[in-house]
Order: sequence, then structure tokens, then C-alpha cells
Amino acid sequence: MPEETVAVISASGFLGTKVSRLFKEKGFKVVDTFFPKPEGIEEFELDITDLDAIRTFFEKVSPAIVINCSAVTAVDWCEEHREECFKVNVSGVENLAEACKENNAKLVHFSSAFVFSGRTEKPYTEEDELKPVNTYSKSKAEAEKVVSKLENFIIIRTTDLYGFNKPGEKNFVTWVLQNLKEGKRFGVVNDQFSQPALIDDVAKAAFELVDLYEKGIFHIFGTDYLSKYDFAVKIALAFGFDPKLIKPISTAESPLKATRPMKLPMNLEKATRLGIKTVGIDAGLALLKKQMQA
Ligand SMILES: NC(=O)c1ccc[n+]([C@@H]2O[C@H](COP(=O)([O-])OP(=O)(O)OC[C@H]3O[C@@H](n4cnc5c(N)ncnc54)[C@H](OP(=O)(O)O)[C@@H]3O)[C@@H](O)[C@H]2O)c1
Repeated sequence: MPEETVAVISASGFLGTKVSRLFKEKGFKVVDTFFPKPEGIEEFELDITDLDAIRTFFEKVSPAIVINCSAVTAVDWCEEHREECFKVNVSGVENLAEACKENNAKLVHFSSAFVFSGRTEKPYTEEDELKPVNTYSKSKAEAEKVVSKLENFIIIRTTDLYGFNKPGEKNFVTWVLQNLKEGKRFGVVNDQFSQPALIDDVAKAAFELVDLYEKGIFHIFGTDYLSKYDFAVKIALAFGFDPKLIKPISTAESPLKATRPMKLPMNLEKATRLGIKTVGIDAGLALLKKQMQA
């Protein structure tokens, strides 16, 4: 398996950085693409909305496995920019799927728990009906339909990614820590529940699924189901801050614009049966802290 070429599409994103690093560590020949290309990097710039550019990339690289880490992910931005959101998250994925089909390559694609409505206490399985409630979610659900038509695909659904690649990253954990450092009192919603996933676990699951020659849709989430507020409190405690600075607020009181799925409990049995494990929040934050301090 490691002699096969793996293309990591958008390898400088939050998850893409971790995925590229892990597949390299596992001995694969990894070819990264970037959009836009950071300074000092020779190749490959790849805009997934450009099918000709994707075809040229395939001619040069002949990847056996394509791991798509690209997307537009800002949920509120997508709500106001439907066309741009669908251009990347749906048309871009159609282009990658087309090129994979033409070249018999496997497509590994990341999707989201946001494809569900979030109105149930019963953990969602991989087979449950998709009922997206906002524009970003609709684009992710459409992309799933496109990828699922391929013969050789993996879709990994995940949510609320946290983790560490390099200093200066901006995400929920760094936002919470920054506010705490500044001694600010700030609000976090206490009525949106999910199972935050550590990027290390999601990247490892992608490797394990590829290594097992698996196909299909898989749920890869952390093992703890909690509110965003409780997650923020756990971050404060893990880093030695006073959680009293964090104010529980409702979604209605928050500045969030797009409708959110409120309750996203996830059934992890399919991945667990394959021996794929993920951690809970305390273990995840302990690892993250160790990586940040290293
Ligand atoms: N983050 C989460 O909590 C979360 C939760 C569930 C699912 N996911 C899924 O996980 C995947 C990775 O997310 P992430 O958090 O790593 O996102 P990210 O950090 O925003 O990375 C996405 C990458 O895609 C790039 N991109 C945007 N438009 C592109 C285009 N036209 N062509 C090629 N690349 C393009 C972005 O570049 P720019 O930065 O320059 O725009 C960025 O490097 C996505 O499919 C996302 O939907 C994420």
C-alpha cells in the first residue's frame, strides 16, 4: 500500500496539514496541493473548481488515492454566499469525483454531522436520512451524494474539529484560550451539543480506513457528547484558567446567523467494529496541550 501515491488536496488547511503529515509518516508517497500556494512552495497549486487543472494534475501525478481536505467551512459566511459555497463544496467535489472516476482513483472525502437536522436525542447512524438546515450543510449533503456515486470512495463525517498543527492557528480552542488570557468575560452557547473530534483521530481514521481497503460512509467523532459551553469550560480547566469567565448563552442570544443543528449525538459502532478508536475531550485536550508546549 505505501508505494501508492496519495494526493492530499488543500494540505495547508487545519485537517489537511494533519492528514498529509500522517500519511507521510506511514510511508506513503504524498503529493500535497494548495490553494492558494504558500510562498516558497514549488508545486502544486490546485483550485478544485477548475476541472482542467485537476486533469493536468492527475496526468502529472497519477494518484491512486485522493484525500479531499478542501472546502469552505465558515457556516455563517456560506449562508450569505450560497453560490461561492456551492461552487467549492459541490462543483469542486464533482470535479474531483470526475477525475477520480476517469483515473480509477479512490476518493476520500470529509463531510459533516451538519448534514443532519440535529433534532433528535437518538445517535445518528451512517444510514440515517440527511436533513441539512443551512446552506453549508446543504452543500455538504449534496457533495455526499456526488461522492457516493463513485465505486471506490470513503466519506468521513466529523464535527467540531480541534487539535494543533502549528502556532498561530485560529479555531475554537485558540479563541477560547485567547479570551481567557485577556481575562475577558465571554459567551458560549450552551444549547448546541456535539461530539468534538480531535484532528489526530480523524487523520488516523482516514489512514486506517484506507489501509483496510474500506469503502463507504463512516462516523468519526470524539466519544464525549457535550455542549459548546461545556467544551469551553473543559478547555479552561485543562489550561489552568478560571471557567467563571465563560458565560453560558443560548443560540438565540448569540451572534450566529445561520440555523444550527442543535443536537448531534453520533453512533460510532461502524468504525468501532473495525477497531477504529477516538478519544474523549479530556484525553484530546491533554494531547493538544502537550503538542502546543512541545
Ligand atoms: N473544521 C471543522 O470543525 C469541521 C467539521 C466537520 C467537517 N469538516 C470538514 O473537514 C474538511 C476540512 O476542514 P478544515 O477545518 O480543515 O477546513 P480549512 O482549515 O478551512 O481547510 C480547507 C482548505 O480548503 C481550501 N480551499 C478553499 N477553496 C478552495 C478551492 N477552490 N480549491 C482548493 N482548496 C480550497 C482552503 O483554502 P483557504 O484557507 O485559502 O480558503 C483551506 O486551505 C472540510 O471538508 C470540512 O467541511 C470540518
